[in-house]
Amino acid sequence: MTTHTNKHERTGARPGLILAVETSCDETSVAVVRDGTTILSNVVSSQIDTHKRYGGVVPEIASRKHVESITLMIDEAVRAAGIRLTDLSAVAVTQGPGLVGALLVGVVAAKTLACALQIPLIGVHHIAGHIYANRLVRELDYPLVALVVSGGHTELVHVPSPGVFRIIGQTRDDAAGEAYDKVARAMGLPYPGGPHVDRLAHQADEPVPLPRAWLEPDSYDFSFSGLKSAVLNALNQAKMRGDVLHPASLSKGFQDSVVEVLVEKAIRAARSFGAKQLLLAGGVAANKGLREALSERCGREKLPLLVPPLSLCTDNAAMIAAAAFLKWESGELSQLDLKAEPVLSLEEWSVKTPAKLAGN
Ligand code: KG4
Ligand code: ZN
Repeated sequence: MTTHTNKHERTGARPGLILAVETSCDETSVAVVRDGTTILSNVVSSQIDTHKRYGGVVPEIASRKHVESITLMIDEAVRAAGIRLTDLSAVAVTQGPGLVGALLVGVVAAKTLACALQIPLIGVHHIAGHIYANRLVRELDYPLVALVVSGGHTELVHVPSPGVFRIIGQTRDDAAGEAYDKVARAMGLPYPGGPHVDRLAHQADEPVPLPRAWLEPDSYDFSFSGLKSAVLNALNQAKMRGDVLHPASLSKGFQDSVVEVLVEKAIRAARSFGAKQLLLAGGVAANKGLREALSERCGREKLPLLVPPLSLCTDNAAMIAAAAFLKWESGELSQLDLKAEPVLSLEEWSVKTPAKLAGN
């Protein structure tokens, strides 16, 4: 990455009016955000209804849907923000990780816009976006620890200073959201299954007892595939006995196991890294059981917990603009040969000159 001059640098002013594009999976989203904190617009077009009938995201269809809607979404975000394209300081885009064909649509659109407006381009790591969704809600206090739980990721991230990411734990197999979706599918629930399992879990009195994957005592890593297999076994055994397992009790058993491990490891990480805040991020942050358990534990530990509103937990472009602002402030801009990266390291994406940043 190199810095290239732009009209704002030439005049010495650095207004941070960033238009961001997010197309890494099955949501096409465009947002306009001022200074990484104030959302002027954040339009999201979900493809869930299309993918639902296949029981999961079909990459080819996702790319095609992004192509169909990206231009309209850019127009809509600019209109809803009440700005002109020429007011923009920079264009940001999710560079990765994600589905390569889907990412490519956003990257090409963002490059075209940056090129036409002659303003800088900023490639953003999707998970940095999920974490910085919290900056759209409240000021951050460092060092902090973030628990990122989505359909593709489950990570504990230590953030010692603005824009610097150290992964301290991650899933060794399925992501939390992926496990939710697979378990839901086995129970005959529609895609995405997470919200259905969450809802059912709250209707049960007694959970079906299921194991917890703690791994080694000092590990911050996660594993959900054993739990998923335990659910499938419980379903099969009940079927062979001619019984029916109550979906609510099974959902509660599964959710209790996922939530207990996530909460315990997140609290232990926050304590051992001296975190001033614990941030929750990603689509599974919408989970009611997880929110309740974390807020109860954080209350007891007197640890401030930040959880974005539901609309900022699932994929959206405002969070991408919030993360892009870190790079805008430090002057680490992307070049027009930016590539879509289906696999991209969060640690390597970290801001290189955090000292320049202020007020994040
Ligand atoms: O962050 P996200 O929108 O997309 C990715 O980047 O993966 O997360 C989507 C995931 C899906 O697996 C979905 O089932 C899960 O978040 N999810 C939930 C809930 N709402 C969404 N999982 C559990 N409980 C929920 N309430
Ligand atoms: Zn996501």
